[in-house]
Amino acid sequence: MNTTTLPTPAHRSADPATASDRAVIELREARKVYRTGEVSVEALRGIDLSIAAGDYVAIMGPSGSGKSTLMHALGCLDVLTSGSYRLDGVDVSELDDDALAEIRNLKIGFVFQQFHLLPELTAWQNVALPLMYARVPLGERRERAAAALDSVGLGGRADHRPGELSGGQQQRVAVARALVTEPTMVLADEPTGNLDTASTEDVLELFDQLNGLGRTIVLITHETEVGEHAKRIVWVKDGVIDREQVNRA
Ligand SMILES: Nc1ncnc2c1ncn2[C@@H]1O[C@H](COP(=O)(O)OP(=O)(O)O)[C@@H](O)[C@H]1O
Ligand SMILES: [Mg+2]
Repeated sequence: MNTTTLPTPAHRSADPATASDRAVIELREARKVYRTGEVSVEALRGIDLSIAAGDYVAIMGPSGSGKSTLMHALGCLDVLTSGSYRLDGVDVSELDDDALAEIRNLKIGFVFQQFHLLPELTAWQNVALPLMYARVPLGERRERAAAALDSVGLGGRADHRPGELSGGQQQRVAVARALVTEPTMVLADEPTGNLDTASTEDVLELFDQLNGLGRTIVLITHETEVGEHAKRIVWVKDGVIDREQVNRA
């Protein structure tokens, strides 16, 4: 894989100490209750979580423990029932849907288990989509999408459609799309859940490189081997943080 062209995140400070001390995520007493008719489920029951710029965190836990609910809250895809959430210094607990959509597009690069690429668009067009939503002009969209594809080692596949790429390559296109806006963090939900062993290694190596360059990464997984790539693992159980494990500094 081409490792020489990865761009440095725009938010990365010249002073590494400052960069790593800055909190990207501050969740306080986060609670989420789902109500369906008479039944209510407390999916998050008071979560405190801080993630600094440059961190690489895996959120792990058994099925039904609240991982997806937590990911939706962190990704501004859903709002908390109570508690506060500051993303990159902005209190997002009180924002309306439009404001949430905008902050989501600007600050978060999503990677999903199912890739979520549009089959009729080429690789570069898929990568450029978040820039279209941000109303970036076409020429600049093309350039930035090409650079993002280069950075994941797929510069030579810009005009291929998803159906002409392997699963691992499709997920790398999805990572390029996640990076193209220079987001504050990359948020990945089971990013290797649909990949074979070789492609899983490929995508995890890419995440390692990106984090090495200062990217903040939060991923959700139930696979121990995947979690071990992260700097720390946050274990969720029954809607609370059960324990934390530090893999490396
Ligand atoms: N939309 C929903 N409506 C009602 N209950 C839900 C909803 N989504 C999740 N839950 C419940 O919340 C709890 C946590 O679910 P989830 O966050 O999906 O866990 P995980 O991703 O760890 O499997 C579970 O008890 C689940 O049944
Ligand atoms: Mg889930």
